[in-house]
Amino acid sequence: MLTTQPNTQRPESLKQHRQQQHDFPAYKGQCYEEVVRLRKQFLTPNVTSYYKKPLLIHKGSGAQLFDQEKSYLDMFGGIVTVSVGHCHPKVNAALEEQLRTLWHTTNIYMHPKLHEYAEKLVTKLPGDLKNVYFVNSGSEANDLAMMIARLYTGNHDIISFRNAYHGASPYTMGLTAHSTWRYPLPGLNSGILHAMNPDPYTGIWGGKQCRDSPVQTTRICDCQEGECKASDKYYEQLEQIFKYSLPRGKVAAMFAESIQGVGGTVQYTKGYIKRAAELVRANGGLFISDEVQSGFGRTGEHYWGFEGHDIVPDIVTMAKGIGNGFPMGAVITSRKIAEVLSQALHFNTFGGNPLACAVGMAVLDVIDEEEMQKNSLDVGTYLLKGLEQLRDKHDVIGDVRGKGLMIGVELVADKETRQHLSAPHFVDIWEMCKDMGVLFGRGGLNANVLRIKPPMCVTRTDADYALAVIDYCCEQYMKKQKRGSTR
Ligand SMILES: Cc1ncc(COP(=O)(O)O)c(C=O)c1O
Repeated sequence: MLTTQPNTQRPESLKQHRQQQHDFPAYKGQCYEEVVRLRKQFLTPNVTSYYKKPLLIHKGSGAQLFDQEKSYLDMFGGIVTVSVGHCHPKVNAALEEQLRTLWHTTNIYMHPKLHEYAEKLVTKLPGDLKNVYFVNSGSEANDLAMMIARLYTGNHDIISFRNAYHGASPYTMGLTAHSTWRYPLPGLNSGILHAMNPDPYTGIWGGKQCRDSPVQTTRICDCQEGECKASDKYYEQLEQIFKYSLPRGKVAAMFAESIQGVGGTVQYTKGYIKRAAELVRANGGLFISDEVQSGFGRTGEHYWGFEGHDIVPDIVTMAKGIGNGFPMGAVITSRKIAEVLSQALHFNTFGGNPLACAVGMAVLDVIDEEEMQKNSLDVGTYLLKGLEQLRDKHDVIGDVRGKGLMIGVELVADKETRQHLSAPHFVDIWEMCKDMGVLFGRGGLNANVLRIKPPMCVTRTDADYALAVIDYCCEQYMKKQKRGSTR
């Protein structure tokens, strides 16, 4: 039974209870100040840190992380990467066994794990999506998918959405459409067009039936059953790109995250993606689903996010959750499309490494054996319904959205205008949550969205705690605001 009442117990008492639940692991590393010094001196200055006093995390277990002093509930999973839980025993065992046997050969030789894993992984994909190229990260996967699409179609132009994040390599940085994530490099946008984002909350059009989510926006909507006027309008904008900006009938591909991740867990208006895929194919292009964040059961209802859009893409890219934190990624497509790579030599030293394949196989097993997709649906829906109530209670929560354990909570300065909460105010709430022992991600162009994407082993008890903490921190923030305005 779904309990929709957010937990009203004071988080202070819950917090003490949580800390008592964990055997506290001793930290044996360098002192905090020394680590800070080394970070400043030896890492490039672009390496950002979450929180005013960055955390020094030295151990993880399930959905828990530990620093020198206390435990945290990890609701961000190493940026949506720890899929089955920190240091999962079965994944650890598979890795340990493999590292006693064989570390590395490259794929110039056959080693059994590479082939077993490829066979197992493609059973999870529909249709002709049966050929795998293993790489090491999401950016690499998307780089390769861009190249394959251009080679296969003979066309150059690729469409992605505004507010998309597809990587930070020079090639994928062009697809990524946030000014904050783009360097002023010549040629960044060569052959890339950014379509208007069909975002029913912050976009021009949107109403309260647009989303495939247990929670809708509070915007007005007069659509009849089965219709989505907002989706039609956004789709017309995409058609305009084909009419005005592309060579007639020629496009290489369209990329879409099934749910935008870095952009703040943004879901598209209903039906848009299916129509977009048809339009792209009618113009000679391929439809590419970036499942780097939304794959491997995270969205609950489906194993892959694209299934929620009722499409079978031409190419699927994946990384992050595929390895539960082990650096790996993959591009999966049909044999016919993959054949284009035979035109030249193409090689990746570490892709399909035996250690990575052993980890990948164990991750697939754990997702199935421990019914993590089902847990994502159950705990995710529970969280979403609880968060919906918090949105109705607190002025600072403008929107709650997502599916399964891919959730966004948008914080606003004004609920009516949907004006985003400015950074110092957002940080106030976010830091308070951390101090209460819960780690959330941060996202969206204006960095005002709490990103909730924990390891898929989180429980309803964890969800209750996270809800109680958000409730408490929003309440404290609102009280502080009131005190400030009456001074
Ligand atoms: C949807 C999506 N695609 C691609 C990437 C790039 O992956 P990586 O950081 O492994 O290169 C990311 C990273 O956050 C992502 O969220």
